[in-house]
Amino acid sequence: VGLAACARDESAPKPAPVAEQRHATYAAFDLTCTSAAETDALLHALRERIGALRQPRTPVATAITAPPTDSGTLGPDLDGAPDLTVNIGYGASFFDRWHADKRPAGIRPMREFDDDRLDPARCHGDLILEIRAADQDTVLHALRDLSRAGRGGLAPRWRQDGSQPSPRPDGAPRNHFGFKDGTSNVRPEEFDRLVWLDDAAQPWTRGGTFLVVRLIRMLTEFWDRISLSEQENIFGRDRASGAPIDGSTELDAPQYADDPGGDVIPLTSHIRLANPRTAETDGSRIFRRAYNYAGGLDVNGNLDLGLVFTCLQRDVVAQFEAVQERLSGEPLTDYIAPFGGGYFYLPPRDAGTDCSTTGG
Ligand code: HEM
Repeated sequence: VGLAACARDESAPKPAPVAEQRHATYAAFDLTCTSAAETDALLHALRERIGALRQPRTPVATAITAPPTDSGTLGPDLDGAPDLTVNIGYGASFFDRWHADKRPAGIRPMREFDDDRLDPARCHGDLILEIRAADQDTVLHALRDLSRAGRGGLAPRWRQDGSQPSPRPDGAPRNHFGFKDGTSNVRPEEFDRLVWLDDAAQPWTRGGTFLVVRLIRMLTEFWDRISLSEQENIFGRDRASGAPIDGSTELDAPQYADDPGGDVIPLTSHIRLANPRTAETDGSRIFRRAYNYAGGLDVNGNLDLGLVFTCLQRDVVAQFEAVQERLSGEPLTDYIAPFGGGYFYLPPRDAGTDCSTTGG
């Protein structure tokens, strides 16, 4: 089994729109395989299970002393989960050990940025499973099933679950700071230019992409102490409607050319730095998809809330890193703390895409 066969989203029926995939887990692993053959066998087993999880299944009778073939957490009627998306992503360290000949030119380890407080135990990984579905039980069932299929070869490294709030009629879902998140995004018709790889020198990567995952704590106790207008200036948007401060509805485009000094939308606001909407910065746009996470309490009794920020792009340096560098020192940094994540390569899959929707 070569890498080409490790395609993501095997056997995909038409993917559910992301708004219906409100739950996700990002689970990073290191491979403990000791040979290329073992690694390929493991990847093959994972791919088979991913295909099977989506299809209706007939319960298999097992010997009385053997463990059941399925965890049973979705009940006895194994209807399959057509809304399930599972992507296998490969970190730079995967290619350090295996399939060096298939290493995409753009894969590299996640770097540390100015405002990061990275925990090495929550960063990187040889391989990541990105699992998304409408319900959390579907996500966890798939994770358990795949962990079982990979037992002996996959050593868990870190994992973060996330979810999006129930859809409301008033637009994009809100993050823990109360702002709509996912309003402005790369559109499906722009994916060929900004998301999918198309490198003639590396034909096996054509139609693949790079996934960036960033685990970002949100310090809600501090956030809740500042005024609404300060919050809105930090993002550059109205909290209630999601409109840019100079607009009136969520989908209005900010008119930065009319406000060169930042009198209306501050020059340091998150949206203005992230996407200045100039010809020079257009190529750095990213396709974002974010999930809120909610853990328990930290050692000080503060709520452990945050964002699983993810984005897809064809060039991590020219896109995600360029955006992140523009955001360096933005006022929002006083209220967030990026602590983990990684960069992963998603190989092409045969047809279709699960990215052709808006998302956070
Ligand atoms: C836009 C929140 C981290 C890139 C936005 C918006 C909000 C937001 C509320 C405006 C609504 C929208 O258009 O989606 C946050 C929060 C973050 C975070 C709370 C951290 C906890 C990041 C990171 C990046 C990023 C790490 C990339 C490095 C963007 C971009 C936009 C955006 C590109 C769209 C700007 C536009 O096109 O107008 N974010 N964000 N954000 N954010 Fe973030």
